Amino acid sequence: MSKKLLGLALAGAMVLSMSGMPVMAEGETVGILMPTQSSERWINDGANMKAQLEEKGYNVELQYAEDDTAMQVSQLENYVSKGVDCLVIAAIDSGVLVNAEAQAKEAGIPIIAYDRLLMNTDAVSYYATFDNKGVGTVIANYIKEAKDLDAAREAGESYTIEFFMGSPDDNNALFLYNGIMEVLQEYLDDGTLVCKSGRTSFEDTCILRWSQETAQANCENILTANYADEDLDIACTAFDGFAYGIKAALQGAGYTADNWPLVTGQDAEVMATKNIIEGTQTMSIYKDTRLLAEKAVSMVDAVLQGSEPEINDTEQYDNGTIVVPTYMCTPVAVDQSNYQEILIDGGYYTEDQLK
Ligand code: BGC
Repeated sequence: MSKKLLGLALAGAMVLSMSGMPVMAEGETVGILMPTQSSERWINDGANMKAQLEEKGYNVELQYAEDDTAMQVSQLENYVSKGVDCLVIAAIDSGVLVNAEAQAKEAGIPIIAYDRLLMNTDAVSYYATFDNKGVGTVIANYIKEAKDLDAAREAGESYTIEFFMGSPDDNNALFLYNGIMEVLQEYLDDGTLVCKSGRTSFEDTCILRWSQETAQANCENILTANYADEDLDIACTAFDGFAYGIKAALQGAGYTADNWPLVTGQDAEVMATKNIIEGTQTMSIYKDTRLLAEKAVSMVDAVLQGSEPEINDTEQYDNGTIVVPTYMCTPVAVDQSNYQEILIDGGYYTEDQLK
């Protein structure tokens, strides 16, 4: 470009930035780390963020670690030594990333925590997530209303329930569990809900790395040991992947449409939505990953272009070192009654994807 043209381009850019128009990122590179491609939601998260960042002029590098914590550490170290300009991290186990995050800070590379909080570090600038405790209360309130637990209590009736909770190394999992118990604990206490396995604590119900196989095996064992004479009424699970494992366990144990329990999930994946339509999963939590990506991208802009990202929580997400300024998106329950309106009319899935 000639000097004159360059001058004009720069002047144009200044006018644009002074007029409040978005400033295009000049070739800055954002390194994204995602946990796994084994679950559809993370594939969507990565793809949405890449597309949105590229549209703004950023270069994007995107890596998945397939739930291998050592692989995620080395991917992070690699980005730091390459000198990317900003990092967006959805951790597998953030405990193992602490040293590499300190190296990033040392090198002046800002970090945005994506969906899962990065614990025990002061190297993280912002956190984009869903209201994780809210996910738990939405799931539990769904159960409460669908089974009308207050009426059951009045009538002295009870329902059996089992819990399948998230990974103990993921901060979201405990938030979700706490949200569930905020609503359901009182019904467990007064016997309206009966957990025949006795496994109601987070320690007893959490499932490492959100493993579908472990959820299935746990469910099979619980059904064999505790439900030989009585049906399971509610499988309260924290993840669509768990609901798939539980579907297999229930089929294996001979459950049919006549005695199929209420099964919850999270992420409203395509497979889960199909299961909702056919009736083998009752509900899921829709998390619009397009919106979450948008929030994370605005945080990248903030740390690289000096703009102000929207924040709506400065209290809840204490990572043990600092309280991380956060934007929490709102989770929504989907079931047979509203998936059409929310997922299809909302443009998240096409009708064809759900066939
Ligand atoms: C996310 C959930 C997801 C789970 C398993 C959690 O950190 O918040 O949306 O279902 O990980 O991938």
